[in-house]
Amino acid sequence: MLIAIDGPAASGKGTLARRLAAHYGLCHLDTGLTFRAVGAALLAAHRALDDEAAAVAVAEQLDLASLDRERLNRHGIGEAASRVAVMPDLRSALVSRQRAFAHTGAGAVLDGRDIGTVVLPDAAAKLFVTADPATRARRRAAEIRSRGGTARDADILADLSRRDRRDAERAVAPLKPAPDAYLLDTTGMDIETAFRSAVDIVDQARDERA
Ligand code: C5P
Repeated sequence: MLIAIDGPAASGKGTLARRLAAHYGLCHLDTGLTFRAVGAALLAAHRALDDEAAAVAVAEQLDLASLDRERLNRHGIGEAASRVAVMPDLRSALVSRQRAFAHTGAGAVLDGRDIGTVVLPDAAAKLFVTADPATRARRRAAEIRSRGGTARDADILADLSRRDRRDAERAVAPLKPAPDAYLLDTTGMDIETAFRSAVDIVDQARDERA
């Protein structure tokens, strides 16, 4: 069983994807981490973020099973990830790795921006998770503060808006719902409510396909 979860930054899709994977006994891949790993590696090597050959070389060497979520999820790396994510050759290199990961076990949950549209167009269930921008910024800022960092909601809102715009406007695999995706707006929902809604959506999509 393959489940595709897409949505903008800090929409809650990552938490939902992890919980769904545990619930259905599937593997999980946060594909944002793959773009983050490439962005972080280019920054560490003092390479330009539009150096596509260097980016592809990093992508081909990535170990998808052991991406360091704690390190890569730092807020600043999101911007580098979204800048490398516009490069078509890098996307193809990562997409083939992501598909291979999805097809190794009994099934998988992948979350990202183009999972339902490009990476797994035949997924059994597709969710597009959103929340209004102010809610997403508040959640992300609270998460940063809970790890001891400092963050103002307004600054995070500006960062997320810039990143969403770049992700939605890029030529290749832009952020958008697949035509057959279920929209889940988590504004005003706590994680338990969002999770129960997501399980209902997945079960219903599975029943419809059966
Ligand atoms: O999901 P996360 O915020 O960690 O993703 C970081 C960046 O990676 C996104 O802003 C986006 O530019 C890129 N990305 C992508 N396609 C995916 C997952 C992430 O372009 N499937």
